[in-house]
Amino acid sequence: MKSSDIFENYSIPKEWDISEPVQQQTYLCNKELLKWDGKMQKVFSPIFEKNGENSIQKYIGSYPLMGKNETLKVLDAAQSAYDKGRAKWPTMSIDERISCIETFTNIMIKKRKDVVKLLMWEIGKSLEDSKKEFERTVDYIRDTINALKELDRDSSKFKVEEGVLAQIRRSPLGVVLCMGPYNYPLNETFTTLIPALIMGNTVIFKPPKIGVLLHEPLLEAFRDAFPKGVINTVYGTGHEVVEPLMNSGRIDVLAFIGTSKGADAIKKQHPKPHRLRSVLGLEAKNAAIVLADADLDNAVSECVSGSLSYNGQRCTALKILFIHRSIEEKFLKNFLKQVDDLKQGLPWEDGVKITPLPDTQKIAYQFELIEDAVKKGAKVINKEVESCGTFMSPVVVYGVTKAMRLYHEEQFGPVVPIVVFDDVDVAMDYVVESNYGQQVSLFGNDSSEIGAMIDPLVNQVCRVNINSQCQRGPDSFPFTGRKDSAEGTLSVSDALRVFSIRTLVAAKTNDQNKDIIQKIVTERSSRFLSTDFIF
Ligand code: G3H
Repeated sequence: MKSSDIFENYSIPKEWDISEPVQQQTYLCNKELLKWDGKMQKVFSPIFEKNGENSIQKYIGSYPLMGKNETLKVLDAAQSAYDKGRAKWPTMSIDERISCIETFTNIMIKKRKDVVKLLMWEIGKSLEDSKKEFERTVDYIRDTINALKELDRDSSKFKVEEGVLAQIRRSPLGVVLCMGPYNYPLNETFTTLIPALIMGNTVIFKPPKIGVLLHEPLLEAFRDAFPKGVINTVYGTGHEVVEPLMNSGRIDVLAFIGTSKGADAIKKQHPKPHRLRSVLGLEAKNAAIVLADADLDNAVSECVSGSLSYNGQRCTALKILFIHRSIEEKFLKNFLKQVDDLKQGLPWEDGVKITPLPDTQKIAYQFELIEDAVKKGAKVINKEVESCGTFMSPVVVYGVTKAMRLYHEEQFGPVVPIVVFDDVDVAMDYVVESNYGQQVSLFGNDSSEIGAMIDPLVNQVCRVNINSQCQRGPDSFPFTGRKDSAEGTLSVSDALRVFSIRTLVAAKTNDQNKDIIQKIVTERSSRFLSTDFIF
């Protein structure tokens, strides 16, 4: 199919049609969905529709462009709901907080179809991947609840060391600003927002510029499930919304998934950076290194899906492939065939893999990188490259070298740079010299060769994948990166730690103290100092 045909005469299954634009004229503040009468941001889908003779991006709704004053009111709400750790939410028992999260999840599940539909229309994610994103998020919430119960069970005991009796638990940190990315707007946002909430922090949630409307069906659930001010939302530009929040010095934790440039700019806005804890998921440029003895069928299929699932718009995507010269021909023949066979189309089509891109500027950027590489001697080696409006077909660029931008910059799109090597040190040097340090994939069969590569690589990246593509999951595994790729570690259990701090109550083990502590526990006069056990 030619890419220009993708938007021609398509049909939409009735259940996924978006008949009315979603006009979100509210923001959540202090358990109220406040009406917004100010400026609105129009949202256009990456999917085009016919308008007379022309095709235009479908208008799918709008959301508030809030200003500084409203944003600061939201901050007041989040701050009062924390009240320096004295309010109801941060002092609530863990099982009460879990119960709020469960209420939220039960309502969220009922909104599955609306959220999945908006994921397709707003960010162009395939139906299959949109459903996966939703399910994975619900699983993540349930796993988080279980991990917290586990953590709490471990901390419900007292310790006695060197004559000091103590109970060590984890306490919340304060007000968290959660900002998720456009490629996983639901899942990645919730992997910070849910642990932040469950640990007793209050949250201001700012969705990414693209990927806002899909959260609209969940606003009532947030409002109904949590006490006043515990979860609030803001929408708008960085200048009007993020800057005043950070400048206030009243944000305690920044949870941000985006670019390192964006993260640096936001962090700098805080007047007391030492008070700000940051949890950051940033760029990556993960390499696949395909060795001479790799199982080619497996290496090819892992590299195709690793580099091109969701059009390459995953932070964990394989963004450069190093192929040993002895297998170059066979590898590329199969790889190109599979790339060219990837079904291109609209998100709801069966088996579709390549879909329209939500960030229109990204397409121009992909072509800039390709042009730079070609000018410096690289070649586009797959079949005719198609690009039309928001759509571009995958592009495989052969002969990429250090001199080219594609070797260094994160493309975050459907472009696959290929480097052919004779000496594996070429690939190893790439990983060492890269500004990024998230993951790497090794394809090969010789255990001594792979073993010898693992030891230097684990000091460069945070996950070495053997004979498989890079990926975040399973979500119980630590997900992090070195250099410009991340700050802090996320996983179901690590996230609980990231959004809390170890705190203890300690006393010398004399009779008087033992008696006081015994009474506190039996009279249940403290929620922190307690041996209660959550089942
Ligand atoms: O974009 C970054 C995502 O966290 C990657 O997750 O490897 O499961 O696609 P994934």
